[in-house]
Amino acid sequence: MERKQFLKSLGAGAAFAITFPCLGSCSKDNGENGNIVEEPTNVDFTIDLNSAEAANLATNGGFIRINLVVVVRNLEGELIAASQVCSHQGYDEVRFASQNGGIFYCDVHGSQFAQDGSNLNPGNGRATKPLKVYQTELNGDILRVFE
Ligand code: FES
Repeated sequence: MERKQFLKSLGAGAAFAITFPCLGSCSKDNGENGNIVEEPTNVDFTIDLNSAEAANLATNGGFIRINLVVVVRNLEGELIAASQVCSHQGYDEVRFASQNGGIFYCDVHGSQFAQDGSNLNPGNGRATKPLKVYQTELNGDILRVFE
């Protein structure tokens, strides 16, 4: 059975539901791909860069998400950190992307942030506030992430 015949056999309502599941804003406001959480406070933790959980930090552009913080080895090899909780609607979906020299990105509504947390594409249904960034300090192989 071809697609057109299949949709016709389902009736107009079902065909509409199948072909236009994202007619609204296509946002993930139902939390399907993330959770709305509070931005972390009093951040102060360490990561052993030799540990398995830090393996992604061995490569420029690699990142891990830990304690609601995105810890990154940026494209220049510097270790930086920012909130995993987006400043837009609080989804825990912020990650690092290597595009445009390296940015923080939230895929829920497409907010982009520079490495200093400033907004790169504010408004139009995206974040208008900056993303919280944290300090980092490297002592040997131990990385401290703190406010
Ligand atoms: S919650 Fe991140 S862009 Fe909307």
